[in-house]
Amino acid sequence: MLGVQRPLLVVWVCLLIPGSHGKYNNGFYYHDFTNGNGNGEIYYNGVRLYVESPQPSVSAIRGSSITLPCHFRYEPELNIPRRTRVKWSWLPALSLNGHATPSTAAVTMETEVMVAMGNRHRSYGSFRGRVRLRRSTPGDMSLVINELQLNDTGRYRCEVIDGLEDESVTVDLELRGVVFPYYSQKGRYHFNFLEAQKACVEQDGTLATFEQLFTAWEEGLDWCNAGWLADGTVQYPITVPREGCGGVDLAPGMRSYGHRHVLHRFDAFCFAANVKGTVYFLKHPSKLNFTEAVQACANNGGQIAKVGQLYAAWRLMGLDQCDAGWLADGSVRYPIAKARPNCGPAEPGVRSFGFPPQHQKFSVYCYQ
Ligand SMILES: *[C@@H]1O[C@H](CO)[C@@H](O)[C@H](O)[C@H]1NC(C)=O
Ligand SMILES: *[C@@H]1O[C@H](CO)[C@@H](O)[C@H](O)[C@H]1NC(C)=O
Repeated sequence: MLGVQRPLLVVWVCLLIPGSHGKYNNGFYYHDFTNGNGNGEIYYNGVRLYVESPQPSVSAIRGSSITLPCHFRYEPELNIPRRTRVKWSWLPALSLNGHATPSTAAVTMETEVMVAMGNRHRSYGSFRGRVRLRRSTPGDMSLVINELQLNDTGRYRCEVIDGLEDESVTVDLELRGVVFPYYSQKGRYHFNFLEAQKACVEQDGTLATFEQLFTAWEEGLDWCNAGWLADGTVQYPITVPREGCGGVDLAPGMRSYGHRHVLHRFDAFCFAANVKGTVYFLKHPSKLNFTEAVQACANNGGQIAKVGQLYAAWRLMGLDQCDAGWLADGSVRYPIAKARPNCGPAEPGVRSFGFPPQHQKFSVYCYQ
């Protein structure tokens, strides 16, 4: 027992030897924490904790599993394992760019994904039951996420806490997919923010993040109608500057209206990434009106395809069909992976006929 003696703190200050590149030398100091858990554990310091990830960003496909790499180690190496706690948290992608709007403020903070200590762990929210630590080696704290959802994108933080030290590293997760501009059957500039969110979900997508639209712009997307993004901003991508789209004097890039009031009305930029199931062109002896098209897919054991599904099939699976077909929202489109004469413009893309009257006859795209 220590009796009346004050706890003794012995410290050998680590000497930074010139020329040692700022690394600790072999000298170390230790604290004797008698007010800690009371069992006289000795915490060594001067031993440094490193938390690292070989991949600062990973990309994956919706519905698949992904591993976000994270390892920790001590230098110099320890021969007695220490009690470490690992916390994975997440900053959703929509808040990585720009600032929170009142409507999105609730999801702009880092939220906990998983906390683990020893063999015990707990996962939270929509990650519950979908995440685990890989633990392939002693310091391996990589996070495995199953059944990836569209809204899992963002910045993940792997934090290792061992009582005295607390180090972390971040890994960005993005989903491979496709951005598509979307407007209402009722006309252009019809969606307020919540309606835009809902419209994307109805087409099996989600409002695109700034990053996703920016990537689409880098890949050539040029669209002269402003649409909502997930962060509550309104923007559009221009690769060929022209009048009416920001003017000819403005360099190619994203035209931004900034954050708009959630009740203002614009189009939407949606993001789709479906790989489960197949989108196919229904071979049918005759052309169909919209009611017949819906029924024909059902008769075929599927359902009429949504816009996001057609875009994903075109972009991720190379679906190519030079025949206009009905889709679930009442629009008529067709996907061209290899541009050719009589199948629209000189670039690949999903061609759109807008929303024709529903008695008109076309083919149909189904999803199964
Ligand atoms: C993400 O999407 C899933 C289903 O698509 C939903 O259940 C979940 O609540 C969403 N999570 C967040 C944080 O919005
Ligand atoms: C489509 O044609 C069927 C007859 O085959 C008809 O009953 C139906 O009303 C038509 N639907 C539309 C939207 O015109």
